Amino acid sequence: VLPEKVTIIEVGPRDGLQNEDNFIDTETKKEFIKTLELAGILEMEITSFVSPKWVPQMKDAFSIVNSRPTGIRGIALVPNRKGIEKVLETDCKNIAVFVGVSDSFNKKNINKSTRDSMEELLPIIAELKAKGFFVRACISTAFYCPYEGKISTKETVKLCREFTAVGVDELSVADTIGMATPVESFILFSELKKELPSMMIAAHFHDTRKMALTNIYAALQAGIDRFDTSAGGIGGCPFAPGASGNVATEDVVYMFERMGIETGIDLDKLVNAIDVVAPHLSREIESGYYRLSKKD
Ligand code: HMG
Ligand code: MG
Repeated sequence: VLPEKVTIIEVGPRDGLQNEDNFIDTETKKEFIKTLELAGILEMEITSFVSPKWVPQMKDAFSIVNSRPTGIRGIALVPNRKGIEKVLETDCKNIAVFVGVSDSFNKKNINKSTRDSMEELLPIIAELKAKGFFVRACISTAFYCPYEGKISTKETVKLCREFTAVGVDELSVADTIGMATPVESFILFSELKKELPSMMIAAHFHDTRKMALTNIYAALQAGIDRFDTSAGGIGGCPFAPGASGNVATEDVVYMFERMGIETGIDLDKLVNAIDVVAPHLSREIESGYYRLSKKD
């Protein structure tokens, strides 16, 4: 049986913008976040505390966090202890850590082996949980790695289990380069639901090969009811060659609402939010729903 409602975790302000070469001014980002909230988004990755040398677009993370809407779960993404320390300087209590199942990818993305990242992060997560933080763990290259190819389900489940053991609130399991098929989506998410039945799990699909919607449907059938999406379908990881945008929030919302599954998101208002950021992007918005909304 399919759920009556699902939760959309908007990642546009973070995953969506991090790959943009031209710096998007901080006020535009804030307006984007505010209009996304107005569209009904309740959970959002708003920025990341990462090296400004590696990802200059996110250099205004403090300003974004300090003026975030507080009525929603606004999450700051971090790769390491330094990033967590920065979040601790703010009043934000929602943190997402990220690590790749694939060692080669983790090295390109965080400049550390997967093991070293885990050894750094796991003890701090326990500290954060003791302080009452909401902690989300993003699992990159859960299906495929741009350097190592196919990743085994066993390895992905193992990493998810380690995060679960230290008490993270949520796992976000990612198809970083959009290579998974619906069968693979169904298999991995079924396995995760079976192995970690009480864990909150989100599916994070990039739409590189236009498989994201079908992969979401397969994950839904495996019992997943939380989905990371990005308004306008923008984004991608700068350190994953071949990565393109996340699945577009508006296409996912359209699909669910037409299926009678509630998202709580207003599509017209979502289009307004995309309009805020679209003129500042180096790429056209490609999502079907957005393009159609511009035709009279
Ligand atoms: P490094 O060069 O090995 O680190 O980079 P370092 O410790 O030598 O530090 C270098 C400089 O960065 C230093 O500054 C540090 O202070 C600073 P300097 O002394 O040279 O002026 N620094 C930081 N600044 C702000 N926040 C921090 C931080 N840490 C160090 N947290 C590092 C290592 C991890 C910093 C670097 O590799 C990095 O920033 N990587 C981030 C890469 C990234 O943002 N990737 C995209 C997000 S992940 C993603 O998109 C995937 C996801 O969507 C799921 C999926 O789709 O798969 C989540
Ligand atoms: Mg991503």
